[in-house]
Amino acid sequence: MVRSSIVIVFFLVQFSDATKLDDVMKMATTELGITFWNQAELTVIANCCESQFYVTPNNNTAILSAAKNCILKNSGNKAVSALALYSNVNNCLNPETLDSVVSDLIAPVLALADALVRKLKTTLSNCKDTNTQTGAAKQEACIQKTYGVVLTDLTLAYVDGICKKVVNENVEPKEWGCGLKYIPSVLTFSKYECSKIVKN
Ligand SMILES: *[C@@H]1O[C@H](CO)[C@@H](O)[C@H](O)[C@H]1NC(C)=O
Repeated sequence: MVRSSIVIVFFLVQFSDATKLDDVMKMATTELGITFWNQAELTVIANCCESQFYVTPNNNTAILSAAKNCILKNSGNKAVSALALYSNVNNCLNPETLDSVVSDLIAPVLALADALVRKLKTTLSNCKDTNTQTGAAKQEACIQKTYGVVLTDLTLAYVDGICKKVVNENVEPKEWGCGLKYIPSVLTFSKYECSKIVKN
């Protein structure tokens, strides 16, 4: 009886974890308007990025570099178009690159998202301290907890607010021209008021 209850709880936990990740990716496509990757493709990319975040939550350089590799290597049949897009953006930004622009913007974005970033890191670190599982099971449980925070806090309005502040304060007209040209290849940018910003 106890044993079968444990098995049932185990399956419920597995099930809720799986739907939480699915829910985040569904939110990314429906609410945030991501179009370049579908929900299943985003799940693969997210799974690839998780480990680096779990291991070095405070090293943005390591997380960004892992994320870039995950995006380029796990875009499935879109790998070629992801690379082409990356190269087109670099040509547009020249002599800057997408990497250099992203590393310039990461500090202001993180400053604006500070409360959420801290909540994510606290959630992860509390789970690392208290979760009694080990290895991959513990990592998975703790990552799923952080997906729960993403799911409730990351809304279109939230992303739009950060976008508007960063574009107004930290983005050069030439960079914004490239953004307006290529961001719509990745998401439905018209959903965001940010897309209406004019800079010259
Ligand atoms: C962060 O990660 C980068 C890339 O993996 C590494 O070179 C660097 O030493 C790390 N920084 C810290 C403070 O651990």
